[in-house]
Amino acid sequence: MPTSAKGKLYSARFQEGLLPELEGFSSSLEIDIELAPYDIAGSIAHARGLQAARLLTKAQLRSVEKGLKQVGKEIASGKFVFQESDEDVHTAVERRLTELAPDAGARLHAGRSRNDQVALDLRLYCRAASGALVSALAALIAALGEQARRHAATAMPGYTHLQRAQPITVGWHLLAHAEPLLRDAERVRHAYAFADLLPLGSGALAGSTLPLLRQRVADELGFSGLTANTMDAVADRDFALDLIYACASIAIHLSRLGEDLVLWASAEFGFIQLADRVATGSSLMPQKKNPDIAELIRGRSGRAIGSLMSLLLVLKGLPLAYDRDLQEDKIALFPAVENALDCLEAARLLVVNLAFDSERLAQGLGDPGLYATDTAEQLVGRGVAFREAHQRVAAAVREGRHQPLWGAERSLELRGLDTTSRVTALEAEVAELHQWASSHPPF
Ligand code: ARG
Repeated sequence: MPTSAKGKLYSARFQEGLLPELEGFSSSLEIDIELAPYDIAGSIAHARGLQAARLLTKAQLRSVEKGLKQVGKEIASGKFVFQESDEDVHTAVERRLTELAPDAGARLHAGRSRNDQVALDLRLYCRAASGALVSALAALIAALGEQARRHAATAMPGYTHLQRAQPITVGWHLLAHAEPLLRDAERVRHAYAFADLLPLGSGALAGSTLPLLRQRVADELGFSGLTANTMDAVADRDFALDLIYACASIAIHLSRLGEDLVLWASAEFGFIQLADRVATGSSLMPQKKNPDIAELIRGRSGRAIGSLMSLLLVLKGLPLAYDRDLQEDKIALFPAVENALDCLEAARLLVVNLAFDSERLAQGLGDPGLYATDTAEQLVGRGVAFREAHQRVAAAVREGRHQPLWGAERSLELRGLDTTSRVTALEAEVAELHQWASSHPPF
């Protein structure tokens, strides 16, 4: 039985309401309720803009602000009473505001559509999420840097193709996991810059006849500029896509760190000993201590890639300007951000608790093959052509008569991999990231 469209923002156009079976299908409230703080901040800024344009009186603005703050409190405290007709967060907030301040509340949506409103909310969310991601990245990079400094001189075998290659240090290896995360922080900041434009004023797709003060609203919300095209502004989700890509990139990098830790914790490598506080056991096998956290970090990269594909596919071939398909942006974006934040923190805890087994590392370093490249380079230093040197040493290795000229310490010294200086530079970059994150809106 169709119900009446009463309570809907568009009820006057309809004689009957959406089939009850389709209400739930259409609603995005369960997911977009997370946008409530941004929706309220955006509406307050919009109302101030309306007042400055003389479309609201000062008294009406005051009651809109008071009402919106009250709605914010009700939602945050869980006291907000949702109604069937609340199809999304924007509808729910406006409906409740209008109950609290009937006259002023009814004026708030002037010059605005839910299309530019949701674009605004999502941009505010992305800006806040970027700050949280950058500070979580900085915390993990700092933890890697600390362990790297501690192990700047702890030698270990380095691998290519998962075969012993040349000696490196534990510190250098850990820094190789920090560098991609630094690049991820740049990716997040790029995504932030794309989100940092005000879409309000675009209306449904074509702007508004009202004298809206866009720059004033942008200043109010701390945006660095205005979107240029009204149709693009309601259709564009590139800023969300870029942030999800940054989250996917983080997840991929963490999966590689997770994989290294899983390998190192195995009896075959034995490079680290898992602290009880970051390991789990088996319900059946009494002897087991498993690196589940590292495995979960590795596995969770699947979610991140899923989110990225999901939004890319929503956007593919979508006609301009706004289409309801875009509602699916949030189910891709929010879990991608949460997943990245969870994995960054779990990885940080693993890194802080890393304990290396110097005996097992030393055992690995006893493999003479690790020094074969040094031997060949030594010959080059004495004037032998590199190809000739390579052949000579390879033959010695094959016949089991290759004698390393020196051990790991000398080999590392000659190659000058300077972990300590890089950690010092990294610490300055971490401080800059923290500074950036703290000067941007809280999540
Ligand atoms: N809930 C929608 C979304 O998340 C916003 C509302 C726009 N709906 C509309 N029928 N114009 O995209």
